[in-house]
Amino acid sequence: MNHTKLRLIGVTVCAVLRGDSENRLVRTFRPRRRKLGPDLTKIYERLKDEWSIAEHGSTLNLAEVFGNENPVCLEIGCGRGDLAVSFGPAHRDINLVAIDIHTRGIANILQGIESQSLTNTRVVEGDVLVLLKRFADASLSEVWVFFPDPWPKPREQRRRLLRPDVVREISRVLKVGGVLRLATDIEDYWRKSVAVVAANESFEEAEFSRPEWRVETVFERRGINEGRQPIDIYWTRL
Ligand SMILES: C[S@@+](CC[C@H](N)C(=O)[O-])C[C@H]1O[C@@H](n2cnc3c(N)ncnc32)[C@H](O)[C@@H]1O
Repeated sequence: MNHTKLRLIGVTVCAVLRGDSENRLVRTFRPRRRKLGPDLTKIYERLKDEWSIAEHGSTLNLAEVFGNENPVCLEIGCGRGDLAVSFGPAHRDINLVAIDIHTRGIANILQGIESQSLTNTRVVEGDVLVLLKRFADASLSEVWVFFPDPWPKPREQRRRLLRPDVVREISRVLKVGGVLRLATDIEDYWRKSVAVVAANESFEEAEFSRPEWRVETVFERRGINEGRQPIDIYWTRL
């Protein structure tokens, strides 16, 4: 068998194996399809290649991605992108990677990158459970999980983002002294997260305080209007 054929077989086997392992992922989001509208579609199509990081691929060299050695934060589940759009311009010496599975927020952030001339913000349209594998050990300064999907029913709780396997991967990619942040208005979510992170044994004890830069999102406002109080927690990587 010649070299090209062997390579093709190798690539196919890798793709099949990758597909299998991803099919086995316990997904943490609800699939949704909403159209962007003509203006946002144009912005998305024009800017996505320039400012996106692919969900799949080899280990990221973040200094190369951003063109500097500044600290890098990861926002998991950026939703409509409100936080990324406000954080980027106010913290130009911090790099931010914002990920969501849904396109609308990604498009909003791309619009913000252009209108505010941001060079410190990148987007990923995809699943963070896949993306996390691309970060080198101890390469991130902060990981943010703000108002993750609550998955309240007991049989759904295995879909929560802050579960043991994901916390293990987050602890791998955080630098010593780095920070994992959670905001949620579901008491059961934060109490169980405190237990999951404590069991991981790579973090200091949970501390409770809201970062001043965490803007209120539509999601948070809706919870407050329905009588739920948000709580902010952070853990420092040992
Ligand atoms: C309830 S929303 C909150 C959005 C935003 N953080 C806020 O505070 O308004 C949770 C978001 O997390 C995203 N999400 C859930 N699991 C994800 C995953 N595995 N990878 C990327 N995004 C995910 C969902 O698509 C959704 O947009």
